[in-house]
Amino acid sequence: NLNKLFLGNNRLEAEDWSFFTALTNCTQLLQLSMEGNNLNGSLPKSVGNLSTNFEWFKFGGNQISGRIPDELGNLVNLTLLDINSNMLSGEIPLTIGNLRKLFILNLSMNKLSGQIPSTIGNLSQLGKLYLDNNNLSGKIPARIGQCKMLNMLNLSVNSLDGSIPDELVSMSSLSLGLDLSNNKLSGSIPQEVGTLSNLALLNFSNNQLSGQIPSSLGQCVVLLSLNMEGNNLIGNIPPALTSLHAIQRIDLSENNLSGEVPVFFENFISLAHLNLSYNYFEGPIPISGIFQRTNSVSLEGNKGLCANIHILNLPICPSSPAKTKNNKRLLLKVIPSITIALFSALCLIFALVTLWKRRMISFSWFNYGHRQCTDVLRQFSGMLNMLCSSNPKRREVPTTPINNETLKKVSYGDILKATNWFSSVHTISSTHTGSVYVGRFKSDKSLVAIKVFNLNQPGTYESYFIECEVLRSTRHRNLMRPLTLCSTLDKENHEFKALIFKFMVNGSLERWLYSEQHYGIKDRVLCLGQRICIATEVASALDYIHNHLTPPLVHCDVKPSNILLDDDMTARLGDFGSAKFLFPDLVSLESLADIGGTIGYIAPEYGMGCQISTGGDVYSFGVLLLEMLTGKQPTDDTFADGVSIHNFIDSMFPDRVAEILDPYMMHEEHQVYPAEWFEACIKPLVALGLSCSVVSPKDRPGMQDVCAKLCAVKETFLQFGDFSL
Ligand SMILES: *[C@@H]1O[C@H](CO)[C@@H](O)[C@H](O)[C@H]1NC(C)=O
Ligand SMILES: *[C@@H]1O[C@H](CO)[C@@H](O)[C@H](O)[C@H]1NC(C)=O
Ligand SMILES: *[C@@H]1O[C@H](CO)[C@@H](O)[C@H](O)[C@H]1NC(C)=O
Ligand SMILES: *[C@@H]1O[C@H](CO)[C@@H](O)[C@H](O)[C@H]1NC(C)=O
Ligand SMILES: *[C@@H]1O[C@H](CO)[C@@H](O)[C@H](O)[C@H]1NC(C)=O
Ligand SMILES: *[C@@H]1O[C@H](CO)[C@@H](O)[C@H](O)[C@H]1NC(C)=O
Repeated sequence: NLNKLFLGNNRLEAEDWSFFTALTNCTQLLQLSMEGNNLNGSLPKSVGNLSTNFEWFKFGGNQISGRIPDELGNLVNLTLLDINSNMLSGEIPLTIGNLRKLFILNLSMNKLSGQIPSTIGNLSQLGKLYLDNNNLSGKIPARIGQCKMLNMLNLSVNSLDGSIPDELVSMSSLSLGLDLSNNKLSGSIPQEVGTLSNLALLNFSNNQLSGQIPSSLGQCVVLLSLNMEGNNLIGNIPPALTSLHAIQRIDLSENNLSGEVPVFFENFISLAHLNLSYNYFEGPIPISGIFQRTNSVSLEGNKGLCANIHILNLPICPSSPAKTKNNKRLLLKVIPSITIALFSALCLIFALVTLWKRRMISFSWFNYGHRQCTDVLRQFSGMLNMLCSSNPKRREVPTTPINNETLKKVSYGDILKATNWFSSVHTISSTHTGSVYVGRFKSDKSLVAIKVFNLNQPGTYESYFIECEVLRSTRHRNLMRPLTLCSTLDKENHEFKALIFKFMVNGSLERWLYSEQHYGIKDRVLCLGQRICIATEVASALDYIHNHLTPPLVHCDVKPSNILLDDDMTARLGDFGSAKFLFPDLVSLESLADIGGTIGYIAPEYGMGCQISTGGDVYSFGVLLLEMLTGKQPTDDTFADGVSIHNFIDSMFPDRVAEILDPYMMHEEHQVYPAEWFEACIKPLVALGLSCSVVSPKDRPGMQDVCAKLCAVKETFLQFGDFSL
């Protein structure tokens, strides 16, 4: 009856693999993991005789050699196949295409050769595919494009050749990364690359790609990291890249790119690394934004670059010729218009005088005196203005005063244009209650997030109205309030409701907490100081809605994905769709479904039919705090079988707490937690998380106390002056 067998990270050896034949008798075995041992020899064919119910096969980090047996294709229920970092050789068997339920396929760091089998296209559930660091050759099969769920593809460090298939860069599911670096790919980058609008990391570096950088790349608005260094790319950096607002690193070095360094790089506030060296860029470089942080920019090996100030060791631009040229150009543009205007005026006067002399027209108003004359002239010039001015006069925008501020009015048409007719390229997220789009209104240059409600779903109206109420009655720097709203009819006369928020460049806290989302970028890991700040800010927002509003407001869905981070990492509590005001005389027992909330964060008393209270939010906050410290979601496998995150951490507290802290919390230079930090910050934080998440609501502290405690911890932390936040 054995279900799971985990023997990972030991020193087991397996020359003859006889244990394997024995395991084929365990007909209930679903998961087998033996990663990080000293298993050698090759995988036996009897692997195909393991139970067909098999789900997990984890053998990474051993010394397994030889071919992958075709029989592995018998394990049709496999969801995870991980044999990374071994010495496997030969071709990847075609039978891999039988593993229809596969979600992760990791064969990276082996010596596999031959082509990538096109049967991989049959793996319709595949989410992550790692074949990097092998000797794979030939073309990338276009059929990989049929893996509609793929969010991560790594083919880096192989000998793949041919061009990048259009189908590959048309996979809008790719969100974590597409890494084709260090191969022998040639041809140009397909225009379809703009389809990758959810992608965070794109790496085409060190291939033989040619042609221009496609301007459609500008549609990949959530791109964090772009690497195309070491190719044969030509032409300019396309102006369309100005929309890559979230970008953190760009490397286009060692290509044949030319033209000027675009000024819009100055506006990329998250950009921390820009490498344009060894190209043919020329002209003056921009000098603000990232260009002031000289360690973050590399421009060497571009002979034609100059700067208007002493910066980055560049020569000063030969300024005077450029200026006079500009002035001359300006004059050349202006003189003709002035001449034409003067000439027309003279003609007009001449014509009027001639006609008047001949008495062909009578100007009765000539006798009315000076005043009327100027009035008429004024009207006349007004008319001219109307005819000539290219921008039609701005319509007066009706405004609704709310909370003493005026909201900008947004029409359905504006939203249509900003989201490119609700194009999937602009979609950030989508649930049954609605979709969130990213876009920009014509009148404004900053990006906004537009939440469009799906009004056919029960509860959606309530969500919309409560968010409007939050807009109307709150004001706090750590709350995500809508900027404005749009409530109207759409083209088919159906009701249409949308809220417009500031676009949060740094996304949600959830994206920052989990290591698989770090994309290997060190700056994307939250250090202890940042975690303390974020927790304090969220607590402050909760204290405000619980204790400073009448009636109090309960959020009911506090969790990392509802905490958004602004460009300076300020935390904002968002998504009030499930929130409820606590009206004193409205006693209603709500069912769990009415409360909303998310498994793992929902207070246990709600499950027993208790009324909504601020204590429910305190519970969720406690879970959140424990999650931020341990890097473990409350739904993590570690907490199965009735052990909650609270109980688990409680059982380790205080002596063994160090074992379960998120290892990423410390920056590299402090691998171990300094003892003072531990006593003064981490222990009180864990204790606070535990006290907030106790089962009995009346034993939980109020948000005001929580806030005070967190501020105290933050103060203490800041006093360890040696460590920067
Ligand atoms: C797998 O099972 C079949 C049928 O029981 C048997 O004939 C075959 O020898 C087994 N293969 C291996 C490699 O053990
Ligand atoms: C395994 O796959 C087979 C065939 O697809 C199916 O009948 C069976 O129910 C699956 N077993 C499990 C545990 O999913
Ligand atoms: C893969 O799917 C195609 C049809 O989509 C089918 O013709 C082919 O036989 C499948 N291959 C495997 C190995 O399952
Ligand atoms: C795949 O293997 C690589 C090591 O080669 C490892 O870094 C990576 O985390 C693995 N990915 C998954 C999802 O198991
Ligand atoms: C892909 O694999 C290479 C080589 O193993 C590795 O260096 C790189 O970080 C991986 N890329 C991603 C996006 O994980
Ligand atoms: C890139 O520039 C180098 C050096 O000028 C030249 O040899 C090479 O042909 C150029 N490649 C392309 C694709 O223009």
